[in-house]
Amino acid sequence: MEDLEALAGAAPSSREVEEGVDERLLARVRTALSRSGGPVTGPVVVDALRSGGEPLGTAGTLRAAPRLGAALVGAGALQVLLDEPGVTDVLVNGPDDVWVDRGRGLRRAHVRLGDEAAVRALAVRLAAGAGRRLDDASPCVDARLADGVRLHAVLPPVSPAGTLLSLRVPRREGMDLDQLVAAGSVPAGWALVLRRVVERRLAFLVSGGTSSGKTTVLASLLGLADPRERVVLVEDAGELRPRLPHVVRLEARHGNVEGVGSVELAELVRHALRMRPDRLVVGECRGGEVRDLLAALNTGHDGGCGTVHANTAADVPARLEALGALAGLDARALTTQAASALDVVLHLRRDARGRRMEEVALVGRREDRLVVVPALTAAGAGPGWADLAARLDLDPDLPPDGAPGGSALAGSEARLLQEPPGPGNPGGRGGPRGRADPGGRAGAEGLR
Ligand SMILES: Nc1ncnc2c1ncn2[C@@H]1O[C@H](COP(=O)(O)OP(=O)(O)OP(=O)(O)O)[C@@H](O)[C@H]1O
Ligand SMILES: [Mg+2]
Repeated sequence: MEDLEALAGAAPSSREVEEGVDERLLARVRTALSRSGGPVTGPVVVDALRSGGEPLGTAGTLRAAPRLGAALVGAGALQVLLDEPGVTDVLVNGPDDVWVDRGRGLRRAHVRLGDEAAVRALAVRLAAGAGRRLDDASPCVDARLADGVRLHAVLPPVSPAGTLLSLRVPRREGMDLDQLVAAGSVPAGWALVLRRVVERRLAFLVSGGTSSGKTTVLASLLGLADPRERVVLVEDAGELRPRLPHVVRLEARHGNVEGVGSVELAELVRHALRMRPDRLVVGECRGGEVRDLLAALNTGHDGGCGTVHANTAADVPARLEALGALAGLDARALTTQAASALDVVLHLRRDARGRRMEEVALVGRREDRLVVVPALTAAGAGPGWADLAARLDLDPDLPPDGAPGGSALAGSEARLLQEPPGPGNPGGRGGPRGRADPGGRAGAEGLR
């Protein structure tokens, strides 16, 4: 049986989809799907139809399934925006208040969704399409749709003005490191450092604010891993699509309508360890699973990585402490665990100029506090560079340039590897780019 992405694709228009479905049948299938709690696929819809007791027969079931699938999965009038190349976000604040980000910030979209009842029906339908419940008793949902789009929806009265929808569209084909460099999102000179971080199996976290490109950078770096490695991904909603031959994926499961059957990220991290991972990846650390990840990295699972939400690299320790506290780790225990488990933080920023990596930093501990010490910044090398260079077998006297730009990639890598420091090229400490400590954070001396 085809899966629903194909079935939904068969729907000629959102209007036909809306009009062409028997509401009673749809309600029955929705109920069955919200009980199953998993993603909606073709076979699941067919099963739901059969278990609904509707006397459709095999031919009738197969005829009804595509329309039901499209009604459950398609995004109606928003689908056109979601399908537009370059769109990253579609936000609905009301039936006539739709916004779209085509990569250069939010712009109002001329889309009319009818009235509040239609927006609510669309939100409920999208949630059901992801096997999730959205109603008065459960008015918020965060889920992944069958085509990879991430859905967040809130119903009144939690959102007093009406139903709110936030849809995040992943770039269909992702971006590899060279593309990130070419787009100006990663300084060309840092590419070799990032390659070495992955190659040498350092444990790293990609940090940044909302939508700063953390997941995209993590996927691109995973794509640099040795193809012989078995990578186990643990995610809340499967977003990572690393270009690697041997990837297995575990996804958290939310409870069904009765709240039964949920599987938390922390539990999945523990399961992942029994699956012989060469590299353990936690897509986003946003809860107590940070304790299990750090424990894993401290027990021989090197090369682990993930993302964490933080507005600056210097905020990462406080963020980790807050997450650790959710799992009962006090600040001292968290510091001990994180300082020995993690090596590097790669911090991203999103502003009017776009998304870019603004800092590579070393994780360590000083006087019983977890610290993140800048190694590379746009302003030059930071106090952590010498230590990072030593761990990566790079010349500490030749910190790479933090300037953005795509064309210098090969040349800059070659220079970093080969050019000896000399009178005309003092480089590094005290060199032309000098050292930077933009956050006012102290040097790397005495780390750990
Ligand atoms: N360097 C980039 N250039 C252009 N588009 C990008 C870049 N990085 C990410 N994007 C796009 O921006 C959107 C957000 O990226 P991503 O999901 O990686 O961010 P995030 O920081 O993980 O977001 P969240 O905080 O929601 O987890 C996606 O649509 C992605 O395809
Ligand atoms: Mg993300």
